[in-house]
Amino acid sequence: MLTLLLLAAGTASVSAQNIDLGSDAQRDAGKQMYELKCAHCHGADGAGDAAMSELLRPAPRNFTSSTFKFRTTGSGELPSDDDIKDSIRKGMPYTGMPPWPSLSEDEVTNLMYYIKTFSDDFAGVFGEVTPLEMPDPPSMSEESIIRGREVYIENSCADCHGEKGRGDGPSAPTLEDTWNYPIRAADLTKRWAFRGGSSRSDIFRTFTTGLDGSPMPSFDIQPPEDQWNLVDYVYSLSRDEADYGTMVVATTIAEPIDVNNAASVFDGIDPVLFAVVGQVIEPGRAFFPGVNGVEVRSVVSPSTISIMLQWNDMSAETTGIAGPGLGAPDRTADEDTSITYADAIAVQFPSGVSAGTGKPYFLFGDRKASADLWFADLSATQATHYTGKGSGDIQLDETRIEMSSSYSDGQWTVIMQRDREISGHAAFTEGTFVPISFSVWDGFNRERGNRRGITMWYSLYIDVAVKESPVVPMISYGFATLLLGLITTFLVRRKFGDKESA
Ligand code: HEC
Ligand code: HEC
Repeated sequence: MLTLLLLAAGTASVSAQNIDLGSDAQRDAGKQMYELKCAHCHGADGAGDAAMSELLRPAPRNFTSSTFKFRTTGSGELPSDDDIKDSIRKGMPYTGMPPWPSLSEDEVTNLMYYIKTFSDDFAGVFGEVTPLEMPDPPSMSEESIIRGREVYIENSCADCHGEKGRGDGPSAPTLEDTWNYPIRAADLTKRWAFRGGSSRSDIFRTFTTGLDGSPMPSFDIQPPEDQWNLVDYVYSLSRDEADYGTMVVATTIAEPIDVNNAASVFDGIDPVLFAVVGQVIEPGRAFFPGVNGVEVRSVVSPSTISIMLQWNDMSAETTGIAGPGLGAPDRTADEDTSITYADAIAVQFPSGVSAGTGKPYFLFGDRKASADLWFADLSATQATHYTGKGSGDIQLDETRIEMSSSYSDGQWTVIMQRDREISGHAAFTEGTFVPISFSVWDGFNRERGNRRGITMWYSLYIDVAVKESPVVPMISYGFATLLLGLITTFLVRRKFGDKESA
């Protein structure tokens, strides 16, 4: 290694002046910090094989393989020093790689130099890299988005990312990275989760340089105008931020909905997006759950409450078994193809009806306070109701939940409806906040029982039905009279004013 480094340093001085491997002191300082902050994921020898790597997908980078995803350099090239430093500072959202904003410039530089010691390539001819020139983005327009959609189809982006960009293309379930781990095509409707950045320039860079080590190729799209058209289309698929909510309002409607024909009821209501994370507290832990968010809408009629749930899922698993209380398979069963897993979702409420009862434990309740689970098994056409007193004590009961479900273009839609008042179960009284939380199982990811995505407790506010009250018309009448008075005064004044000045 030492000889190699020396040799390389020799070569560097002849042919590659740009190679900068830092000083001994810098690499030593980098090593110390690396061992403290990075080695438990990336491995002491940089091979990405530390204890944590089994729990993370994508897995921590193996720095000995010289393959880097986030670069301003061409496909297959090493990253620039600034690329590595940027990756360290910003981290990679929605993966195990944390951001390190509090490290000083020197500390990040030292870490960068140390990372470069894991592969001899940095010291050789490949170590001299020139970042690609990134043009300034032109302005975005309706036309560029429309043309960009065509470029998206022409370049088969939909093969992996899906027709609507939800990461559900026909090839998506088969994708693996260079290190033979399964990997998902990014959900382009969630730009905030992009690891290479979410600005238009970032998207431009991502598909021109590709993400080495992942199936995401680099594209040389011609003519150059089409590069920005494609950027604009991809950009248009997502809002800027996740804007995760903490409360959903159940809007009042006059009559119960027909769960099989409710689109028109929910269309006019803005969904609230709740963040879903892996259940990692109890055995069966899901360290890399398949679903990272669920969108929720709700309506109440005088006699019923209905919830609509939507989430993006790469593929619909509609055969196999699902159930909140089923044992999660252990990781050794992962290879067993005879076990099949259905997608499923559950909405959870405290069963307690009186306001004084505390919230039950968020993982399916506890012995003191039970939780109601509206469970939609997506291999079945009916929802079931469970009462949980903890993950180990979940009982099926007779509470009736109506349900409909559909899957299209990488998105599940599930609607569930229950009577508002059922003795012994969650009550939905107008003007109250009811705790609500969710569990989502992704069958493709072999999730079942405790291996699932979860949310914390949020709130469902039951809207107050607007009653015809004499006060409202009275106030409006009074206000109208006042306004009329003011306008009259104004006009009269003007008239006088005009006369005076004339
Ligand atoms: C908790 C685990 C964890 C820790 C701690 C961690 N990383 Fe990472 N790191 C990851 C994962 C996971 C990835 C892969 C993300 C991906 O592929 O999208 C990654 C990727 C990277 C990359 C890859 C960039 C690329 O372009 O491919 C760099 C550089 C990096 N980490 C540096 C560091 C440094 C330096 C530290 C310590 C200051 C550190 N990491 C600490 C998990 C971790
Ligand atoms: C062969 C499958 C495949 C094709 C074709 C493909 N992608 Fe990807 N793409 C991926 C995968 C896989 C990822 C996620 C990589 C990762 O997680 O490291 C990804 C990630 C991305 C990202 C997000 C990167 C980030 O910063 O996190 C964008 C944007 C993107 N692709 C755009 C495109 C566009 C535009 C096209 C067509 C020009 C395209 N992709 C074609 C597989 C593909």
